[in-house]
Amino acid sequence: MTRRKLVAGNWKMNGDRAALAELDGIAAAAAAHPAIDVAIALPATLIAAGAERVPALAIGAQDVHAADKGAFTGCISANMAKEAGARFSIVGHSERRADQKESDVLVKAKAEALHRAGMQAIVCVGETLEQRDAGEAERVVTQQLEGSLPDGAAADWCAIAYEPVWAIGTGRTPTIEDVAAMHGAIRAKLRDLVGEGGDAIRLLYGGSVTAENAPALLHASDVDGALVGGASLTAAKFVPIVAAAAGN
Ligand code: PGA
Repeated sequence: MTRRKLVAGNWKMNGDRAALAELDGIAAAAAAHPAIDVAIALPATLIAAGAERVPALAIGAQDVHAADKGAFTGCISANMAKEAGARFSIVGHSERRADQKESDVLVKAKAEALHRAGMQAIVCVGETLEQRDAGEAERVVTQQLEGSLPDGAAADWCAIAYEPVWAIGTGRTPTIEDVAAMHGAIRAKLRDLVGEGGDAIRLLYGGSVTAENAPALLHASDVDGALVGGASLTAAKFVPIVAAAAGN
């Protein structure tokens, strides 16, 4: 099974209109590597301007509400993000699971809201350092996957990002062997949960991905791409990761 690689950036709560100039170089790299997919999840306030600036690049959101509309002050629905120009959203990022106390059930509902809106979902899972040290990483991650995987998950609209919480923003990464082992476990669980279709669903690695470690991480077994935080904020740091995914 060959899966197109996907390199997705996540700007988190960073960036302003001036920073959108970085998208020019990222869009150029995406155009130069048509065999892979490139995407950037922007802060909600920048989605419309970003999508207008680089229409060929897949611009996304970092979160959406699980409901289609209603009395949810401060929230944004999938359709609102879509109208602004988002083609996808991240859901269940560990920062939201921790800071906003998002549960597996809620993450699943958010992914399903994206599907209803005709958008793509990147569903995040990952263990804490305490869980890894306790030998619980695989159990925790596969359990999160089971609870967070949207009904009808399929490769054309859903990808999974494995992001060990202790690797996010820390400069630490698991060994290539640990990444491959976890992605293998996630792949096996996907097969259990969705059958053969699970083989086509892309598994991204996230957590301190850089130009330096991307070539090894992106070509580890069952790694179909990367979710990149800090190194997605500038074209200078992100474009080499795109090139690494493309294999050159
Ligand atoms: P990082 O973030 O690349 O800055 O570690 C990754 C993420 O949280 O998606």
